[in-house]
Amino acid sequence: MTNTAPSTAGAHTAPGAGDFAARTQRIAKVYGRGDAQVVALDGVTVGIPRGRFTAIMGPSGSGKSTLMHCMAGLDSVDSGEVFIGDTELTRLKDKQLTRLRRDKVGFIFQAFNLVPTLTALENITLPMDIAGRKPDKEWLDTVIDTVDLRPRLKHRPSELSGGQQQRVACARALAARPEIIFADEPTGNLDSRSGAEVLGFLRDSVRRMGQTIVMVTHDPSAAAYADQVLFLTDGQIVDTMEGPTAERVLERMKGFDTGAGRAAQPASAQPAGRPGGQGPGVAAR
Ligand SMILES: Nc1ncnc2c1ncn2[C@@H]1O[C@H](COP(=O)(O)OP(=O)(O)OP(=O)(O)O)[C@@H](O)[C@H]1O
Ligand SMILES: [Mg+2]
Repeated sequence: MTNTAPSTAGAHTAPGAGDFAARTQRIAKVYGRGDAQVVALDGVTVGIPRGRFTAIMGPSGSGKSTLMHCMAGLDSVDSGEVFIGDTELTRLKDKQLTRLRRDKVGFIFQAFNLVPTLTALENITLPMDIAGRKPDKEWLDTVIDTVDLRPRLKHRPSELSGGQQQRVACARALAARPEIIFADEPTGNLDSRSGAEVLGFLRDSVRRMGQTIVMVTHDPSAAAYADQVLFLTDGQIVDTMEGPTAERVLERMKGFDTGAGRAAQPASAQPAGRPGGQGPGVAAR
């Protein structure tokens, strides 16, 4: 039984708010009413450290996608606060939120969401084209070479393999240099080789380009590419793990089946502003 909710892992770092690309403060999200009511997020306080690769794991229905959508400003919270950098999202008007998402946030979803009529290159630059921004040519070249797509730039998605399409989606997210990239099971429908390619690429973009990435995954080997893992159960962060290996993650996940995940101390039970005692996965305010 572990009781390592945010305080133990990496407690020596205790970063301030400025070290987080995104963070939440006691956010709650409830769907439905009465008997149909589902508490998807139950007071989540979490920080996503800048320039690191964070994985989010937890049983199906534990609130992972909801957390990502709320942090990315794609969905609203019922209570609590969400920050991208220093900007608190719930205070923004719709237009401001749209602009912030466009300028600061990148998304990679399980379904690649590529536009079928556009070439790979056009797909990659689409968000910047919509924003009326000129891509930084040098940066674009770096991204294209990193994802190894140069020979495929003129191809349409239907002419690309699944792994290549997912790399286009990764390049699209990276090309605009967002503050943070949210990836929800980005390798969920790829074979293991293409999955490894995409994960290796995401990890490299963190190491080499200082990108910040949060990724939801069910796969312990995918989580092992991350610098840290946050475990979510019943809408609460119940644990964090630094320097994950597939074996340790698998071991921890087994705990959820036996109820150990639920028994672990939830993050929401932690005093939010406790000085010095918070791991890198939890925001101190
Ligand atoms: N739009 C919605 N309306 C009602 N309930 C919802 C809605 N979206 C999510 N939920 C519920 O909220 C809970 C959390 O859902 P969420 O999609 O965040 O889970 P998840 O951890 O991403 O699961 P999975 O691993 O299966 O993708 C679930 O019980 C789900 O049924
Ligand atoms: Mg999900």
